Amino acid sequence: MKETVGVVMNGVTGRMGLRQHLVRSVLAIREQGGIPIGDGRVIWPEPVLVGRNEHKVKAIADEYGLPWTTDLSEALADPAVDVYFDSLVTGERDKTVRQAIAAGKHIYCEKPTAPDLATALELARLATEAGVKHGVVQDKIFLPGLLKLKRLVDGGFFGRILSVRGEFGYWVFEGDWQPINRPSWNYRAEDDGGIVLDMFCHWQYVLDHIFGRPTSVQALAATHIPRRVDEQGEWYDATADDAAYGIFELAGGIVAQINSSWTTRVFRDELVEFQVDGTEGSAVAGLRRCRAQHRSATPMPVWNPDMPAPHDFRSQWQEVPDNAEFDNGFKTQWELFLKHVVLDTPWQWDLLAGARGVQLAELGLRSSREGRRLAVPELELP
Ligand SMILES: NC(=O)c1ccc[n+]([C@@H]2O[C@H](COP(=O)([O-])OP(=O)(O)OC[C@H]3O[C@@H](n4cnc5c(N)ncnc54)[C@H](O)[C@@H]3O)[C@@H](O)[C@H]2O)c1
Repeated sequence: MKETVGVVMNGVTGRMGLRQHLVRSVLAIREQGGIPIGDGRVIWPEPVLVGRNEHKVKAIADEYGLPWTTDLSEALADPAVDVYFDSLVTGERDKTVRQAIAAGKHIYCEKPTAPDLATALELARLATEAGVKHGVVQDKIFLPGLLKLKRLVDGGFFGRILSVRGEFGYWVFEGDWQPINRPSWNYRAEDDGGIVLDMFCHWQYVLDHIFGRPTSVQALAATHIPRRVDEQGEWYDATADDAAYGIFELAGGIVAQINSSWTTRVFRDELVEFQVDGTEGSAVAGLRRCRAQHRSATPMPVWNPDMPAPHDFRSQWQEVPDNAEFDNGFKTQWELFLKHVVLDTPWQWDLLAGARGVQLAELGLRSSREGRRLAVPELELP
């Protein structure tokens, strides 16, 4: 038997909305026959696509045989719709989420939930007061590499964790001689772009979930490439930060340092990697892999630049086995959210959690402007 959940999906003409949320999550759930919840019952998402551009949204809807509209109010007025999902550009989100809360729909949306903390908190307050369920995409938690890293932490592998060093980034082409590989709004501050707002939201929940809540931030944000070419082939001023060098103190005393950059070339095994050093061992985790080195297997390097390195350092690490099957992280979180909606199962990644990410980004940008380290206060609903 199907427990149908009507989901209005706004933003499916965008990168994230189409690939990760519609195709790899909602449609993938339908392809697998729904989400089994026992007694032969399944949760069955029934999407309605919403978009500004009739041609674009209709083309996607036709390809997948789904209903569509350009009128959000009309879609939200349908009593068969239970959930509003939003993956619009960040600055457009609060208007539509407010509208959906007012219509009594449950909310699931992309991060950042808003460009500023006050708006992000207001959305959390409105949704809570309206009594609707709410969730924010925190997909990195469900990456295989980070799931294995969390397993090592939970199993006590590291002893006392000292530090975390994260390296995220890749080259985003300027657009002059090769096409851009990210939408241009990401490089305009006036369109709520910038790598701090984008990535510090992720680092907040990754650090909090695996190691401890960030309690202070010191960041240096930079705009290394000041001019880029947009989707129309026009040069524009890149007013937003394209690299951020951040240091975070975590509750419990761990120090985390994370570089985020769209202006670096990859000499790593994965687009993001975290090295964790503890008294009993260390590990390096990426999107998929996690490798560990125990204290007992740690070599004793000697500094001698006069000789070629005598160690093949990478070969001295041990692969942490999967020991499980890992699904797409976005889909996993969709399944948890839909179960939360239908069965009221526990859920922690709500709009207040989303606001914590926006808070860290806002403080990171302020820290950079003011050239000082800032405390990150615990957040409460206003
Ligand atoms: N979870 C993640 O890993 C992750 C990764 C990338 C982006 N994101 C977030 O997802 C959101 C979308 O990012 P994207 O990369 O898909 O961007 P995108 O530019 O590809 O898509 C943006 C969507 O918003 C719509 N849109 C743009 N301007 C609008 C306006 N003025 N009014 C109404 N709709 C408008 C577009 O039509 C499109 O559907 C952003 O908030 C971004 O921060 C999350």
